[in-house]
Amino acid sequence: MSNSSNMVKVAVVGGEGIGPEVTAQSRRVLDWFVARRGVPAVMRDAQYGLIPYLATGKVLPDETAEAMDEADAILWGATGGPETKEVPPAARKAGSLLSLRRKYDLYANLRPIVANPALADSAPLKPEVLDGVDFVIIRELTSGIYFGEPRGIVTLPDGQRRGFNTEQYNTNQIRRVARAAFELARTRKNKVCSVDKANVLETSVLWREEVIALHKEEFSDVELTHLYVDNVAMQIVREPRQFDVMVMGNIFGDILSDCAAMASGSLGMLPSASLGPIDRFGRRKALYEPVHGSAPDIAGKHLANPTALLLSAVLMLRHIDEGAAADRIMQSLGAVLTAKTVRTRDLGGTASTLEFADAVCRQM
Ligand code: NAI
Ligand code: MG
Repeated sequence: MSNSSNMVKVAVVGGEGIGPEVTAQSRRVLDWFVARRGVPAVMRDAQYGLIPYLATGKVLPDETAEAMDEADAILWGATGGPETKEVPPAARKAGSLLSLRRKYDLYANLRPIVANPALADSAPLKPEVLDGVDFVIIRELTSGIYFGEPRGIVTLPDGQRRGFNTEQYNTNQIRRVARAAFELARTRKNKVCSVDKANVLETSVLWREEVIALHKEEFSDVELTHLYVDNVAMQIVREPRQFDVMVMGNIFGDILSDCAAMASGSLGMLPSASLGPIDRFGRRKALYEPVHGSAPDIAGKHLANPTALLLSAVLMLRHIDEGAAADRIMQSLGAVLTAKTVRTRDLGGTASTLEFADAVCRQM
């Protein structure tokens, strides 16, 4: 038995919309491994969003902030939706997901995209396009246009309004995320595609120069290519098999990963891991969350596919060296998807979130 010091502390934050629904199902699966297979994790549930705001005046109440601060890993559901309007912008901003990514410096957002042959019938792309697709998008998560200053909306002298944001990257921000991409590539097919818009944007010119310089200095064994972001949008649906590891700035990664979700069949299938810097004890803070959002159109109806969050939990298990548990979940999930008898609506079925998760649990 592990003692409490080598227990992995996990904060489980369901959030809003379908977040709590999909999180509860993944929590059930994780609890099973903790109870039956000795996975050394201590889980702590914490609230986020409108509900704690109404009770405490904060979307991120102190208890949740504390649970996240002390956690090695955070399992995050989703935030957003129509409820957002009930929280004043300042309160929303104070505990926003963006501010949390910044606070923990979660700069490398990994989004693995694997086409599951069992889903070929419900995927929007042709089976021959999807065959063998297995790549990872690494999105820079704590800089770029989502954080750049100045930003705002102002009224001009002639009465028109102007909205503006600032896209910016500096050497260190580019290099550390590029390093994450090169290191990951070495454990895979050894290929990195860096995505930019260097024909138009100065931030992209710098991005490309820094990626090339780092490659030359430390990673010349890795195959490096560069593509413009608009071309990549096309290539992801034309021939997604060509990619191994892709690295890009914040906004490009946000947009292209939703596009890439179609290669895995549904947005409900895409997990992500956001990693911070390695500290002096060799550990790094990590937040695991689905790529999808709060899906207000299906929230509360128990129609959500919990796979994206479950796969995020699988990424977490791999990072804490619980590969056997991760493999077991993948097998169970694969068996359920292959059987096709229980599927959520996004995969062309009629099963509820609970029925789908039950089927996965029964396979374990
Ligand atoms: P979304 O990802 O919530 O939904 C897009 C579409 O995919 C919807 O039709 C939804 O029903 C479907 N979908 C998403 N996840 C699904 C699942 N697990 N199972 C089945 N179907 C699923 O994106 P949308 O509509 O652009 O944004 C809704 C809200 O979520 C917004 O307020 C947005 O800001 C927020 N959001 C939050 C994120 C986060 O918490 N990290 C990430 C993305 C969006
Ligand atoms: Mg997005």
